Amino acid sequence: MKKRILFLMPFILISVNRSLAQKLTIPIETAHNAVVLQVTAKNDLVQAYFGERLNTPGEYSQIKEARTSDYTGLYQSAYTPSGSRNLLEPTISIQHADGNQSLDLRYLSHKVDKLSADVTLTSVVLKDPVYKVVVTLYYKAYIKDDVVEQWSVIRHQEKGEITLQKFASANLNLSSKAYWLRQYHGDWAKEMRPEETQLTHGIKTLDSKLGTRANLFMPSMFMVSLNKPATEDEGKVMMAALEWSGNFRTDLELDPDDNLRIISGINNYASAYKLKPNVDFTTPAFVYTFSSKGKGVASRNLHNWARNYKLMNGKGDRLTLLNNWESTYFDFNEQKLFGLLKDTKALGVDLFLLDDGWFANKFPRNDDHAGLGDWEENRKKLPNGIASIAREADKEGVKFGIWIEPEMVNPKSAQYGKHPDWVIKQPKRDEYYFRNQLVLDLTNPAVQDFVFKVVDSLFIKDPKLAYIKWDCNAVIYNAYSVHLKSQQSQLYVDYVRGLYTVLQRIRKKYPDVPMMLCSGGGGRVDYGALQYFTEFWPSDNTDPLERIYIQWEYSYFYPAITSSNHVTDWGKQSLKYRVDVAMMGKLGFDIVITKLSPQDMQLAKDAVVNYNGVKSIIWHGDQYRLSDPQTDPVACVIYVDTTKASAVVFDYLVSNRYDAAPRSRMLLKGLDPAKNYAIKEINVYPGKKGRFNGESIYSGDFLMKVGIDPEIDPSRSSVVLKIDEAK
Ligand code: GLA
Repeated sequence: MKKRILFLMPFILISVNRSLAQKLTIPIETAHNAVVLQVTAKNDLVQAYFGERLNTPGEYSQIKEARTSDYTGLYQSAYTPSGSRNLLEPTISIQHADGNQSLDLRYLSHKVDKLSADVTLTSVVLKDPVYKVVVTLYYKAYIKDDVVEQWSVIRHQEKGEITLQKFASANLNLSSKAYWLRQYHGDWAKEMRPEETQLTHGIKTLDSKLGTRANLFMPSMFMVSLNKPATEDEGKVMMAALEWSGNFRTDLELDPDDNLRIISGINNYASAYKLKPNVDFTTPAFVYTFSSKGKGVASRNLHNWARNYKLMNGKGDRLTLLNNWESTYFDFNEQKLFGLLKDTKALGVDLFLLDDGWFANKFPRNDDHAGLGDWEENRKKLPNGIASIAREADKEGVKFGIWIEPEMVNPKSAQYGKHPDWVIKQPKRDEYYFRNQLVLDLTNPAVQDFVFKVVDSLFIKDPKLAYIKWDCNAVIYNAYSVHLKSQQSQLYVDYVRGLYTVLQRIRKKYPDVPMMLCSGGGGRVDYGALQYFTEFWPSDNTDPLERIYIQWEYSYFYPAITSSNHVTDWGKQSLKYRVDVAMMGKLGFDIVITKLSPQDMQLAKDAVVNYNGVKSIIWHGDQYRLSDPQTDPVACVIYVDTTKASAVVFDYLVSNRYDAAPRSRMLLKGLDPAKNYAIKEINVYPGKKGRFNGESIYSGDFLMKVGIDPEIDPSRSSVVLKIDEAK
């Protein structure tokens, strides 16, 4: 009874609001931008403007509703329903308890909460005048970082369940002469391949239906430039992504009136969701930023926001490491690992990361066909358990971390034999595998408990466990959950919710342990998951030339501190080139140290020392792109610390063509024009001389207007410069 009264309360608000204002304007402002909502005379909520903020906020109310063709119906809606006056792509689509499929959402009330000096939360309540369905739109504005997170909460009081057929998080309306979409596609070892095209009329859909490992073919990140493709320092551009680790769908609809509607949310593919009365359905946040000064500003907005607000321990430290995956694969034993601990120490990195292959006895994990799910130590390889490796690590003075893939089982595992009903598969169809494995049904609380315990038991074995690499190597085929019974269409959504429930439980008990988000490479990289993870694995492709491109594109959306970059034997480049590229993020190694020549070993050790000197600039500073490998023969990036007292520049030759390296000067960015700086080349190969020895002093003004020539040529195809304020 109480609930019913509460539900009716907003009706009082609506009459007050209506009489106060025929047209209400709700600006959501950040430092430079604004999203402007308006309530029309008919009480429709429209999003009338998105772009640079006005100097005089009072003028937002003068924004006129766009003139539309007669037939476009509910045009510019801030959250477009279906089945009533809208014929464009809906944001929300519902079947009511009585079978009716129409929805009409009218403004009821709104409020603005100031969560801190830097964050506001605007919520707008919309209600269907006929059906008891209420949708609350949320706009969380991060003022300094110029970022907005937008999501919705759907709720009803009908007699019986309603079915959510589409339940996107947000729709945004953009107005321009032309729209250029930069989107990404890929596959294993081919992550983040960009394509940039002008949008034509109709709908362009970016989506995933892979369930887990949802980004394998396409991530949810994208950018839209207005009028013409934005460059690093010029043009209007929005960057956006969905904070969700499962199926997503973003529709970009260029409507008949030449306006762009962006609708983003969980993919409704095979996912009609039944909602009981008085239960909230909360959609994941759609995060976006806007810059009128090019891609560089937009990406730095996202970096700052991620580190300040979203990323697990975004402002903290990270561990350098030696990983054994590519140096041993599944073939190791205790002695070999003891040797690797010594190598970890000799190299000077913080931690040894034991990868796949350490577990399972009935079906030993000696290749990727067996053992997943049986998380006890393999007695042949580790007769004394991981506790013994942890003890030895302690003795060597290095930390210890471990790989797990707790969401999966191999059919050849004791776990699968014990609980075949815990696995996602069609009961009446043949099993179908991805990397010889099946996905556990995380919609089931018993399975969530099992996955939590995989992590928990590691800490029981090694209370000092310092790092976890959490992998996810299979997509969902044959989607069916025994647990969900007749609610099969909830599987994709409830899987991700189940995953987040487990991660929240882990973070409650182990708030500090760094965790790497890995998915056979970059198959799962999103800000939904990065609330629980400190870093991600961008790709199994560690060829440094490839990595320059992969890391480059990720860097528009994620700060360098999130990017785990390991030096491996992939590619034809020198060790120096490989190390330099891996330093543009979180440095790790996955090579056989003992096979390095003495000079290479010296270079690697020096690089770790150098890295320790510059890592906080890379992790916490501002990133500026100086020369783009997609268009130039040289890739060049500078990271500048927030006080502008020091910086580090990375230059790479990415072209093999004859005489490709330019002899021109590189204009630096982000420095203080009034400061003087000394430039020193670091990571110089033992026995060679760097071209910059720190003796010449240049003003920031000079370095940004005249520039310096890093003297790249085929014999110096990779150059790292440390820049420090000269006192
Ligand atoms: C995935 C990861 C690799 C490695 C292997 C282990 O492919 O991306 O880094 O951990 O699994 O099987």
